[in-house]
Amino acid sequence: MQQPSIMSERMVLRPLMEKDAPVVRRLARNRKIAYTTPWVFLPYSEKQALLWIASTADHFAQRTSVEFGIQLKCGGRLVGLVGLDHMIAHDSVAELWFIITVACWGNGYATEAGRAAVQFGFEHLGLNRICGYHMVRNPASGRVLAKLGMKREGLLRQHVRKNEIFADVALMALLREEWAKITPHPNILARSRGECARSRVSGQNDFWSVGQSRCLRRKHPRHSRSGI
Ligand SMILES: CC(C)(COP(=O)(O)OP(=O)(O)OC[C@H]1O[C@@H](n2cnc3c(N)ncnc32)[C@H](O)[C@@H]1OP(=O)(O)O)[C@@H](O)C(=O)NCCC(=O)NCCS
Repeated sequence: MQQPSIMSERMVLRPLMEKDAPVVRRLARNRKIAYTTPWVFLPYSEKQALLWIASTADHFAQRTSVEFGIQLKCGGRLVGLVGLDHMIAHDSVAELWFIITVACWGNGYATEAGRAAVQFGFEHLGLNRICGYHMVRNPASGRVLAKLGMKREGLLRQHVRKNEIFADVALMALLREEWAKITPHPNILARSRGECARSRVSGQNDFWSVGQSRCLRRKHPRHSRSGI
């Protein structure tokens, strides 16, 4: 089965393509992003980006991970990446991650993309638990995970080494049963609109729409991070 695209209110989460390599490279090479992301290590070449993009179809086919480009409906710009990684079929678990291009921070994009990916994970991939890690020096990521309903489960002291300095990482997670409680009528949109029924999650051109919760409809004004 080919990886479907997911539609949310303002964005389409779609499989990555070769042409996305320059954007992936730019994201991975950004120092602000690398500083707060445990698994981004500089330097990162376009060849690495191309190899990674080429591997994503296999990842999905083998159900080891699923990666999406976050493309805005308005203007079609690719503003980031979101994925469910380290999927273990036996335990029905996965790890959520996301990156948004710095110029677009503070617009609620990570929250919207993360929510869509979480819904896809629980409803389509049949996951039971989705976790997220964030470096303690990255409260914005922790805030996004909390907005998705994740609970903090622990602190992994000096879990990663970035720029030769050990850094603490927090672990957060959301169980399927918790998600069902905070997501009213999770399947309602899929059932009520024939073109996005779950049974059609099969081909490259198929779209899988996610419900629009109150939070998705909220306006996210751009704001200064320094005042937070
Ligand atoms: C973390 C990241 C994805 C957030 O993207 P985003 O689109 O700006 O996120 P959102 O706008 O959906 O939400 C950000 C939230 O964090 C809050 N926030 C931002 N900076 C913060 C800070 N220093 N302290 C506390 N909260 C902060 C925002 O106010 C917002 O919460 P709110 O809606 O309650 O006001 C983005 O900063 C990023 O790409 N960082 C680098 C990569 C990374 O760290 N990825 C996560 C590791 S998996």
